[in-house]
Amino acid sequence: RYEKIWTAAALLLIVGLIATVTYGAVGPGVKMVDDSGGTIDSGSLDETEFADPGVTRTGENQYEVHVIARQFLFQPGTTSPIRVPANSEVTFYIVSADVVHGFELAGTNVNTMVVPGQVTKVSVQFDEPAEYGIVCHEYCGSGHHTMAGQLVVV
Ligand code: CUA
Repeated sequence: RYEKIWTAAALLLIVGLIATVTYGAVGPGVKMVDDSGGTIDSGSLDETEFADPGVTRTGENQYEVHVIARQFLFQPGTTSPIRVPANSEVTFYIVSADVVHGFELAGTNVNTMVVPGQVTKVSVQFDEPAEYGIVCHEYCGSGHHTMAGQLVVV
């Protein structure tokens, strides 16, 4: 019976999907820890730790990176790459100055939304030197397709 074949095919697809997602979650050298960094008034970022966004060393192998997403760039990231050392644990704090954006590190499982008024927090372990593209994957206006940046692990 064809129904049985289709049911089996659908089940196979679902199992395949779960396997893909699970594999993505244990991707090479990069792990995501959490994504809740609290709330923020995006109208007055100048009065917060986002007044001077960028990389701050907080421990021997630990770094914080504050990033502002706005139409249509990542600050830092777009005009100059974000640079962090290998063998480090990096916690990103990302806010939006205007509308909803995305923050994806291409080739890793870091893929999160950046919502105005919220601080998106993502911790990542970088084991080896590499270069990652930063991509906005949420439609944010006419320049959305140009909104990208770079992260360099040195
Ligand atoms: Cu920012 Cu799309």
